[in-house]
Amino acid sequence: MTPTLTIVVANLKGGSTKTTSAAFVSHALEGAGLSTIAVDADGENESLLSWSEAGEWSIPVIGLPVADLHRKLPGIVDNRYDAVVIDTPPMKERLGVVASAIKLATHVLVPMAPTGIEYDRLPAIRSVVEDAAALRAGGPPPELAVVFTRTVPNAASTDVYRQLITDDGLRVLGPTVGRLERYAQAYGLPIKNAAGTAYGDIVAELLTSTEILTS
Ligand SMILES: Nc1ncnc2c1ncn2[C@@H]1O[C@H](COP(=O)(O)OP(=O)(O)O)[C@@H](O)[C@H]1O
Ligand SMILES: [Mg+2]
Repeated sequence: MTPTLTIVVANLKGGSTKTTSAAFVSHALEGAGLSTIAVDADGENESLLSWSEAGEWSIPVIGLPVADLHRKLPGIVDNRYDAVVIDTPPMKERLGVVASAIKLATHVLVPMAPTGIEYDRLPAIRSVVEDAAALRAGGPPPELAVVFTRTVPNAASTDVYRQLITDDGLRVLGPTVGRLERYAQAYGLPIKNAAGTAYGDIVAELLTSTEILTS
């Protein structure tokens, strides 16, 4: 049996572009021809849910901010989708919920700015992912992939942190998401042509390197 592509978007803290990334990644997956459902596991904010309602998205979004998400979600999704994108609360505040989501993940996508403060959070994120993955029922561990967001053109930081993180043995996706008004002002609006943005390139890279959909 091939598992559904399940991308969990996670980071230690709020304000790290998780929800924006979950929104655009889910639309880019849909744009790539995969029927996609998004899950808002951040019960404190419910930003993805409210964004989807205000923006009248065609992609279904359900709220499931629970620590037994890994037990509840499979019955709800019921193999009816090619891809599931889970937006999560900050690990630091809701570890149980995030760990539960990671138990279902084929990919854990960690959006972060290429800065020292975000870089210093990676070991903690990594150990949460490893601990959760060790407790899953079966299947291969999820792939952890870092994606740089809010990057500034021609800034040396992007290459510097890409090298550091790669040297630490983590995967950094090639495409980066720039610090742009189109993302800063996206909340509450419909998302058009996500496949034509950097998030489309990110999804394309994830899909070419995954065996899940090609096996
Ligand atoms: N690429 C980007 N460029 C500029 N602003 C961004 C970008 N991505 C997200 N933002 C803004 O950064 C803030 C935090 O993003 P959000 O997705 O809500 O993070 P989180 O879900 O991790 O709390 C929001 O105001 C959002 O609009
Ligand atoms: Mg959020």
